[in-house]
Amino acid sequence: MSTVPQHIAIIMDGNGRWATKRGLPRKAGHKAGAETFRRIARECKARGIKYLTVYAFSTENWKRSEDEVSAIMNLLRDYLHEAVDSMLKEGIRIHFFGDLTPIAPDIRELIHKTDELSAALPDDAVQGNICLNYGGRDEILRAVRSFAARVKAGECAPEDLDEAAFSALLDSAGVPDPELIIRPSGELRLSNFLLWQCAYSEFYFTDVLWPDFDAEELDRALASYAQRDRRFGGVKKS
Ligand code: IPE
Ligand code: IPE
Ligand code: MG
Repeated sequence: MSTVPQHIAIIMDGNGRWATKRGLPRKAGHKAGAETFRRIARECKARGIKYLTVYAFSTENWKRSEDEVSAIMNLLRDYLHEAVDSMLKEGIRIHFFGDLTPIAPDIRELIHKTDELSAALPDDAVQGNICLNYGGRDEILRAVRSFAARVKAGECAPEDLDEAAFSALLDSAGVPDPELIIRPSGELRLSNFLLWQCAYSEFYFTDVLWPDFDAEELDRALASYAQRDRRFGGVKKS
């Protein structure tokens, strides 16, 4: 079995502290973090990683100042304009996880364009999933509500719900669970990220702040993953 994961997920954390350490406004950290995302996405593709899921903005991040939230949304706008121009050329499918209803209409329109372009890419194209207004609990609740509505409409029965059927109702439908979840910045928590999908993920935590995360750090995470003994509740094979 290959030791390179098919799917890695990253909690892109530490932008604010990176900026504060340099006497810069927090939004400068988000700008640097967005650059790191572009670099690391390329590095993942070069290493044969098929899916990269990144936590960009959580359901809880609306608690931040309007100034910070709008700076993050502006960076996303810039990124989406670029993605619309380059996705087909680079062969990268961009997909969004999260509840997009409260997102500005022009950003939603750009996301819609990326969906259209994604449909033109081959099934085996590398896929980047951007979690925007995403919360693991919110994702689960939205899935439960949609299943309950189908039961109420007489389209299916409660017993029809198994793990595969439930997975197919999540934002991550069709995407295999991440084998590896990386969190930079020294925080040892999930902060509502991929709660269903992380059931058997391996975790890699590092003190490096996201804007400083580089190819060497990615390789350290992958080397650590390659050493893990993934038993899934079974017994180690000798
Ligand atoms: C992650 O960096 C980016 C978002 C949550 C949008 P932070 O902004 O959380 O950075 P710290 O944790 O304050 O350093
Ligand atoms: C998690 O980071 C969300 C993103 C990276 C988008 P936070 O900085 O929001 O998480 P907490 O507040 O430290 O748990
Ligand atoms: Mg943070």
